[in-house]
Amino acid sequence: MILGIESSCDESSVALVEGRRVLVNLIHSQVAQHASFGGVVPELAARQHLEKLPGLVELALQEAEVSPGQVKQIAVTRGPGLVGCLLVGVGLAGGLAAAWDVPLRGVNHLWGHVAAAWAESVATVPPGLPLLAMVASGGHSDLVLLSAEGGFELLGRTRDDAAGEAFDKAARMLGLGYPGGPALARLAEAGDGRRQPLPRPRLPGLEYSFSGLKTALRYRLRELALSAGWSSERPGEIPVPSSEWIAESVRADLAAAFQHSVVESLLEKLERALSQHPVETVVVCGGVAANSRLRQRAAEVVGDRAHLIIPPLSLCTDNAAMIALAAGQITGVGAESVGVMADPTLDWRP
Ligand code: KG4
Ligand code: ZN
Repeated sequence: MILGIESSCDESSVALVEGRRVLVNLIHSQVAQHASFGGVVPELAARQHLEKLPGLVELALQEAEVSPGQVKQIAVTRGPGLVGCLLVGVGLAGGLAAAWDVPLRGVNHLWGHVAAAWAESVATVPPGLPLLAMVASGGHSDLVLLSAEGGFELLGRTRDDAAGEAFDKAARMLGLGYPGGPALARLAEAGDGRRQPLPRPRLPGLEYSFSGLKTALRYRLRELALSAGWSSERPGEIPVPSSEWIAESVRADLAAAFQHSVVESLLEKLERALSQHPVETVVVCGGVAANSRLRQRAAEVVGDRAHLIIPPLSLCTDNAAMIALAAGQITGVGAESVGVMADPTLDWRP
């Protein structure tokens, strides 16, 4: 029985996992607290974790009908993430480990996203290794190969913005609130990207780039506003979207075109990585894997070339079950130790 704690960004989460079975996975999203600021405010997020996490631990034990004595290990995200937020989780985990006299394991958040594929509800048998994973989140767009020996090989990543970050910024330009990804995806459903095509990022190899696409959207919006009589001296400036200069249908078409470009770009490289490393299992994970268009297209692109695992939405966006699963299921995820150091710049290091 492993108690997992996740607090790297704006989700406070506590989970109990027994083997591959997720008993409880409580997630408190801070969206409401950050929405009026248009993005995550790090200081506010850390305070929210401090306020919410202890209660979530109690609630998780209660809901799963588990006593502290049954918990054999505590797993906590130690990075990458926002430093203040990580410190709250690591501090709480260290305190609980000392009080309950159980080992503590610091888990890499990125490995955690991949580990969601180990949940019993996701895969009837544990995923076979080696496997190819695409982690697309607010901070990362990484293609990694998880080897049978327990190591990760980073095959490719983004040169600039992460996919989720691109979704969030595009959503803001289109006048959608925070968090932008889900809002943009909803708007895209009503649109047709072919009516407002945007360029598809094209980089050689297995690298991604989303900043050019973002700029293309900005200049398309600027053109639309200028041609409707809006004026601006500042290069690249765009007004807040309003029906005076952009029709709702055009906004939806642009959202659809943007989503199409990001999704196809992500999958083009995934496909290439799979050709270069023909493994039996592919995992698509991270917050952006909650995108239904990406889920549907990933299934088409991977086809019968490999077994594709995409965790359910609650295990794609940040959660503590994936952290506990990583600690219990993935070899070499980080040593058990008395003290765990938060490391905001961890990258893929264990
Ligand atoms: O993994 P995650 O919860 O947090 C990080 O580790 O960053 O990912 C959050 C990101 C945000 O950028 C959010 O906009 C994006 O995932 N996201 C989506 C969708 N749901 C969440 N992007 C596109 N479509 C969605 N349905
Ligand atoms: Zn994440």
